Amino acid sequence: MRSRIVGTGSYVPPRVLTNADLERMVETSDEWIVKRTGIKERRVASPGEACSDLGVRAAERALEAAGVPAGDLDFILMATCTGDAPLPSTACLVQHRLGATRAAACDVSAACCGFVYALAVGDSFIRTGAQHVLVIGSEVMSAITDWTDRGTCILFGDGAGAVVLSATDEDRGILSSHLHSDGSLGDLICVPGGGSRMPPSEKVVAERMQYIKMKGNETYEVAVKTLVRSAKEALEHNKLSVGEIDLYVPHQANLRIIKAVAHRLGLPMEKIVLNIDRYGNTSAASIPLALDEAVRAGRLQEGATVLLSAFGSGLTWASSVVRW
Ligand code: COA
Repeated sequence: MRSRIVGTGSYVPPRVLTNADLERMVETSDEWIVKRTGIKERRVASPGEACSDLGVRAAERALEAAGVPAGDLDFILMATCTGDAPLPSTACLVQHRLGATRAAACDVSAACCGFVYALAVGDSFIRTGAQHVLVIGSEVMSAITDWTDRGTCILFGDGAGAVVLSATDEDRGILSSHLHSDGSLGDLICVPGGGSRMPPSEKVVAERMQYIKMKGNETYEVAVKTLVRSAKEALEHNKLSVGEIDLYVPHQANLRIIKAVAHRLGLPMEKIVLNIDRYGNTSAASIPLALDEAVRAGRLQEGATVLLSAFGSGLTWASSVVRW
């Protein structure tokens, strides 16, 4: 038994925050942001709009595309680092709103790798008997972004993407998953406050510890290395050459990172799905959002070989190869 992606969906909040808007908030420029990151604008959730709200809309679109009723789902996996609240899991909120009464539900916390990790978990459940699994990546990064820190606030955006996995005995679907971590690099990207180590307090808020802290330069280096390494590992495992990859959907963190990876792999840019210019880095939502756009733009024909790969806080890095 394999699992196949039988439907995709995505949703981004309507509010657009442009680089020109950011010029009015911190000392930066459209030119600097575009040159260093490739980002022109990003979406930002409205006040009161939470992770589950975005996730439900992406999930509804994926279920509709798949033709799978919510009541048939066995499992809902929600990849996010910006859930509605610490408890209950955001996956349970989504489960209720979709009316997925038979489904188990839990969140997967692996930051920007969350979706690829959750896809691997969903795939494993299908291989051991589940019929339909909903995998969502949804983030309201604007809630943990320090809008006074020009080193990070230019990068992130909000959005959601989802896929429905169904069991198949055909020789296609998810061919491989490779997941990795290295906690010794946990301080490269982190949110230090608000958890059990540093519970919410006036001090945490005063020191802005509830927001993302990032070592940009070091993260950049590690990102290129881990993306290249995970792509090569996936290709070797499946005995594929770079030329046999029809579409590459990388985590959208920085256009320069993606270009450096493409160059090192020898992969032409036409084969890469890019939407970072419009959405910035949407963490766990980034890959399913890009994948859904590619599907709806007709970029995926049956039988196409697709490589997904991500890196993120943790540090984590992960890949998945899918035969469409
Ligand atoms: N606007 C204008 N100038 C800025 C700026 C901004 N938004 N942010 C930083 N700068 C300045 C710096 O202060 C520095 O000035 P100095 O030379 O006078 O000290 C200069 O620009 C260069 O800073 P640097 O940090 O070296 O820039 P960079 O080329 O490394 O780009 C990032 C910064 C954040 C865009 C880049 O490091 C990056 O993308 N890193 C990876 C981040 C990532 O992928 N995170 C998510 C992982 S999932």
